[in-house]
Amino acid sequence: MSEVLAIYPGSFDPITNGHFDLIERSSRIFDRLIVALLTNAEKEPLFSVEERVDMLREVTRNMKNVSVDTFSGLLVDYAVQQKARAIVRGVRAFSDYEYELQMALMNRKLEPRLETIFLMPAESYAYVSSRLVKEIFRHGGSVKELVPAVVEKRLREKISPIPHKA
Ligand code: PNS
Repeated sequence: MSEVLAIYPGSFDPITNGHFDLIERSSRIFDRLIVALLTNAEKEPLFSVEERVDMLREVTRNMKNVSVDTFSGLLVDYAVQQKARAIVRGVRAFSDYEYELQMALMNRKLEPRLETIFLMPAESYAYVSSRLVKEIFRHGGSVKELVPAVVEKRLREKISPIPHKA
């Protein structure tokens, strides 16, 4: 049987320990995994595409069957072009589920040969999101246990925490 390739798409602005946990889990299930960064997202990112790709490459460099790529346009078109069989998405809480279900069903409508596989991150990362990480960092909170070390370093270079009076 041919190897099974999966795509893990996202904005990764920046990659969190929750994303990393999902990459590790997926790399153990699939023969090959492409972490695919969307380059034409509507929201204004904190990190440039190059910075986000750099961080993703750094944290996945020891994972032999994982590669990092960028895509624009429809995810299903990119997945078909790569000959992927599955799309991986993480579901943390019920609140994620509605949006994820809608996307998965729409992607299936667009390309019935592709399956979306939902994975749950470790419980300890169930509340971690890129948005919260940025907010916490901005206000001087610790993100040490929430993101890989390289991301914490990049956040320090990019953002000066807002000083707050006690
Ligand atoms: O990390 P995010 O922002 O939750 O990732 C969302 C992403 C990139 C998976 C989604 O926005 C996407 O697939 N965008 C590509 C455009 C597309 O295919 N849209 C139709 C989805 S049904």
